[in-house]
Amino acid sequence: MSNYKVADIGLAKAGRKAIEIAENEMPGLMSLRKTQGKTKPLAGSRISGCLHMTVQTAVLIETLVDLGAEVRWCSSDIFSTQDEAAAAIAATGISVFAWKGETEEEYEWCIKQTLIFPDKQPLNMILDDGADLTKLVHKQYPELLNGIKGISEQTTTGVQVLNAMVRDGILAFPAIDINDSVTKSKFDNLYGCRESIVDGIRRATHIMLAGSVAMVAGFGDVGKGCAQALRGSGCRVLVTEIDPIVAMQAAMEGYEVLTAHHAAVKANLVITTTACTSVIDGSILELLPDNAVVCNMGQFDTEIDVSWLKATALKKTTIRPQVDSYLLPNGKHILVLADGHLVNLGCAKGHPSFVMSTSFTNQVLAQIELWTNNQDCKNYKKGKLYTLPKYLDEEVARLHLDHLGVELTKLTPKQSKYLGIPVNGPFKSDRYRY
Ligand code: NAI
Repeated sequence: MSNYKVADIGLAKAGRKAIEIAENEMPGLMSLRKTQGKTKPLAGSRISGCLHMTVQTAVLIETLVDLGAEVRWCSSDIFSTQDEAAAAIAATGISVFAWKGETEEEYEWCIKQTLIFPDKQPLNMILDDGADLTKLVHKQYPELLNGIKGISEQTTTGVQVLNAMVRDGILAFPAIDINDSVTKSKFDNLYGCRESIVDGIRRATHIMLAGSVAMVAGFGDVGKGCAQALRGSGCRVLVTEIDPIVAMQAAMEGYEVLTAHHAAVKANLVITTTACTSVIDGSILELLPDNAVVCNMGQFDTEIDVSWLKATALKKTTIRPQVDSYLLPNGKHILVLADGHLVNLGCAKGHPSFVMSTSFTNQVLAQIELWTNNQDCKNYKKGKLYTLPKYLDEEVARLHLDHLGVELTKLTPKQSKYLGIPVNGPFKSDRYRY
């Protein structure tokens, strides 16, 4: 069995340098290595991972290995692999199957390569991002389900899939929802996207953002981060929403909230962040001004109807990899980035390391919980979806404060008694919204 398939193993040296720099910005993961590297809590685990094969993910993978896990890896999108990171991981002997620009068939092939470990030992844990690996095992490899102790899921869209599986009674093992740790969605989705959306658009197009009219579809955590970044770059930002509470939030943040059909007439930049499907369909694409730029920040390429464009356009011109111009029968051009896949990972390098450290520290803690703290599924039942306990969420934040130079105030015993909150937390109930 081949140990890896990457674009160019010669990129390993460059990848290693990038990983070393990233480690400086990932205090949560590095601290777990320091405190738990000796005791190897993940010894015996065989983790199949499906999560964007970036430099930051390389630091996650090496942390899992340092804590005793065996790991096989693939990317959770066809364009999101950073080839130098994949090469550096392959060069250490860890099995990785990922390159930038996979076909959909190759994407599935890569996922399948993660399932069986040396000596024909199957996986016993899953670390997923979008639930593609989880779905594939359920559909195509039911014989492996019994041996899997659990899965930790990274993102909003994957959690939607898992919720549906729980509802249908088909999820075969316990799952931990990483996305709904506060230190994940309120940081990675919000501040991570606030950094990486503009990076993706600029690297792909070099358009002048100041003065542009940008439509942000969806104003959840990702939409909030994108809208703020675009406004910060001088865009006039329009928001679309289906949820009245969120629509009101957007309006009170000072954004104009319109339907997509009304916004499209003036938006020369469109960003989808909804986790929904066909949000920007043919009827909206036709309304956009000439040379409008259209891109997606959601997990899957379902938000923009790129297949309508492909079927309808008179001409498609590839400007550079992941940047295509379509000429519509109405004479207008539409510039689509990353073929409707995640633009920040397809056209740039994704989020900065620091914010990925908060997400990935949750991932490692969840893997440890499921592997070491779930004898006979006592704490995490089969077919159920959990979030990590509040004290661990707070611990993830605590591990990142020094790096930011934060001075945290400590409750006095008198204050602790007055508020009814332990001196060392948890400080909030599970229902607190932050
Ligand atoms: P969310 O649930 O917080 O926000 C989505 C928002 O879109 C909601 O407020 C919802 O009401 C709205 N919405 C749904 N359908 C809509 C429609 N048809 N038109 C207008 N608005 C609509 O989800 P979150 O956390 O913001 O994630 C959004 C997507 O981004 C997910 O697919 C998630 O997996 C992905 N994601 C991507 C990241 C990246 O690096 N690009 C990072 C984190 C998440």
